[in-house]
Amino acid sequence: MSHLSQRPDVDPATMVVGSAIPHEAAALHVTGKALYTDDLVARTKDCLHAWPVQATVARARITVLDVTPAYDVPGVVRVLTAADVPGVNDAGVKHDEPLFPDEVCFHGHAVCWVLAETLEAARLGAAAVRLELEPLPALVNVKEAIAAHAFQGAQPTVERGDVAGGIQAAPHVFSGELEFAGQEHFYLETHCALSDVDENGQVFVQSSTQHPSETQEIVAHVLGLHSHEVTVQCLRMGGGFGGKEMQPHGFAAIAALGSTLTGRPVRLRLNRTQDLTMTGKRHGFHADWRVGFDDDGVIQALEATVTADGGWSLDLSEPVLARALCHIDNAYWIPNIRVSGRIARSNKTSQTAFRGFGGPQGMMVIEDILGRCAPLLGIDPVELRRRNFYRSGVATPQTTPYGQPVRHPERVNAVFDQVIESSDFEARREEVGRFNAEHEHVKRALAITPVKFGISFNLTAFNQAGALVHVYKDGSVLINHGGTEMGQGLHTKMLQVAATTLGVPLSRVRLAPTRTDKVPNTSATAASSGADLNGGAVKNACEQIRRRLEQVASGGLGVPAEDVRFVDGEVTGLGRSGLSLTWEEVVRTAYFQRVQLFAAGYYRTEGLHWDSSVMQGSPFKYFAYGAAATEVEVDGFTGAYTTRRVDIVHDVGDSLSPLIDIGQIEGGFVQGAGWLTLEDLRWDESDGPHRGRLSTQSASTYKLPSFSEMPPDFRVTLLERAHEEGAVYGSKAVGEPPLMLAFSVREALREAAAAFGPPGTSVDLASPATPEAVWWALTEARRGHDEGHVVEGKDGHAPDRSDPSAPARRPASEVERTAVPHLTEA
Ligand code: MTE
Ligand code: MOS
Repeated sequence: MSHLSQRPDVDPATMVVGSAIPHEAAALHVTGKALYTDDLVARTKDCLHAWPVQATVARARITVLDVTPAYDVPGVVRVLTAADVPGVNDAGVKHDEPLFPDEVCFHGHAVCWVLAETLEAARLGAAAVRLELEPLPALVNVKEAIAAHAFQGAQPTVERGDVAGGIQAAPHVFSGELEFAGQEHFYLETHCALSDVDENGQVFVQSSTQHPSETQEIVAHVLGLHSHEVTVQCLRMGGGFGGKEMQPHGFAAIAALGSTLTGRPVRLRLNRTQDLTMTGKRHGFHADWRVGFDDDGVIQALEATVTADGGWSLDLSEPVLARALCHIDNAYWIPNIRVSGRIARSNKTSQTAFRGFGGPQGMMVIEDILGRCAPLLGIDPVELRRRNFYRSGVATPQTTPYGQPVRHPERVNAVFDQVIESSDFEARREEVGRFNAEHEHVKRALAITPVKFGISFNLTAFNQAGALVHVYKDGSVLINHGGTEMGQGLHTKMLQVAATTLGVPLSRVRLAPTRTDKVPNTSATAASSGADLNGGAVKNACEQIRRRLEQVASGGLGVPAEDVRFVDGEVTGLGRSGLSLTWEEVVRTAYFQRVQLFAAGYYRTEGLHWDSSVMQGSPFKYFAYGAAATEVEVDGFTGAYTTRRVDIVHDVGDSLSPLIDIGQIEGGFVQGAGWLTLEDLRWDESDGPHRGRLSTQSASTYKLPSFSEMPPDFRVTLLERAHEEGAVYGSKAVGEPPLMLAFSVREALREAAAAFGPPGTSVDLASPATPEAVWWALTEARRGHDEGHVVEGKDGHAPDRSDPSAPARRPASEVERTAVPHLTEA
């Protein structure tokens, strides 16, 4: 067991790590007392409010921007434009994201910002600004961008083995195409920043950001300042989900610019429509693929091109694409593979990180392939998946397509088998079969899918973290670390880690908000690695202090320092029963002996390497595993469906905080199910006056999962005896991997749709699988699979959707949006 992962050898009842405690701020959240950035406005004197001038065309050159009329509006104090920027006019790190653009790049693009005494005055001021535009041709979906060869950023390929040979030798070859939608984060708290400048010109920005250090850097470069002149604080976020990893920077920079120019606090908070129309979302993808199976259904080779719809600028599209390529294997061994990726540049919001960060998009491709091919191969999808799992017990460990050995492959089988058993899978499947035989117009299905998700940032440098731990003379402990809290329970876990390492009760430890002047150069709280990285740093800081206190206590207890034990606020010596000191006594003694009672902690993940130029290496410390079985019921008249029951077994290592982890699994699963079934982002793709406009601009048109979509029977179990050597106290990251358990919902819907047709029907299911899409799929299934789009052979190609001889399956207006092209066995 590694030093990092080993838990203290104490009575489990006193172990703080691993105990099921509620979120540290749960009571504040539910009573409304928790403060979010915008709540601070009411406590800030003389605050100005910011409102954007948003262009309402998808692409245009700005010919006139006359802000003078805004100043006639009572209350308007200042209009910010490019001319005001003392530093770099860019909101990102790729220098392709002008903060004040001279070309409108998407419908909703903010071209300037109005500051006023009230929000209403700012809004009226923005309406008064005279903006004249010369429209330019725009690309508003991935297909158009591909056709126009409009790409941005790197075009990486992950490759191994002999793909052509593998396909050639495979007895069953299929090819197909798939296009699937992105997702809106819909965090409850929209983007927000509140800035102020002190008498020395020190800029202080409170920001709802997952990446305070980068917010700080961008604010500094926009203002032409150094990092030490800018401090960013994040109290907490009302959800981030990746949407606040890169996107808060520009808003923080606008607020900070406003403060430096007016000398007053500036508040910028997007309302929901502004947030929806201005900020990036999960990338939708397009994929073309060809796969070869042997007679047993074992994958021989896979070839694919995946195209991410990046929107107007890069921000995180490159690392998102890299993670997609690194997850197209999911839990399956693919001996010969070549997957090429590219990023389309389209005139939409700049798509960005979203829980899973490309992982879900990569896995979507392989899960879709398996779901569509299983009936064509005549193999039960459960069996087809199992036959392709990474295996243990083979001579040389199997590696991923990017060359990383898969450690603990047996855990895929472990979680899978446990779900099959605990969900009573076989018996329920028989029941589903009986039900379907008896019901012509309602069908059920039960599907199970696995998850294997790599933990660590692909970019090795990001895998470091810092912490600052103070022990005060009275024995109370204050911790600071570089991670941010967005509801995921990171702070709760960090309190538990500190209490465990110092051997004090949880009540002795408090946590202060994340600030760049406490812990510098932090990574985003992202890639699910918050607890791994910051936990390592907090543990390191606490260990430094504990080691010093061991020396102090060793004198008092008459034992060597190594034999001093700190448990639950009591300090004892091995073999000295009856003799003990309190934590407070030892701390006080240490102070008078002039022993340092605070420490800066640091952690770097060991053993990682990644070469992005060849897309090879071992970028991940370990993999998180999980499996989910989902039962659905579909109505044949409407395509409406319900999720009847979900069973999950998920691997979080030895949990740091089981209640938090189960909450993350439930939340991740439901958010994934939302992406795959309900949440339907639509842009106006017509040639009309609103081309490029996001049509789903509010909760009334963008359907989120709510209580009514929760599975009535939802069983989440943590994999037991799952100690992880490479992470703090034997735990594993949990934030993102469970999202991808939701593929079981999609696969169940596919199988239920297939049940409306003859046995062996392969179903193409659009994503999101809205009731409408499911209706089309089951209608297609009912017609049987005799329309000539499922053929076996070797010279096939992905069918052309504009082919006039292709069967008209959907109303013309729907084809481009929801149609999934036919699958060809080629
Ligand atoms: N859970 C809640 N409640 N709110 C969030 O915004 N973000 C998710 C996940 N779980 C999120 C969440 C994402 S995208 C990530 S990367 C992780 O939390 C980040 O936190 P962690 O690294 O501490 O797990
Ligand atoms: Mo999460 S998408 O890595 O912020």
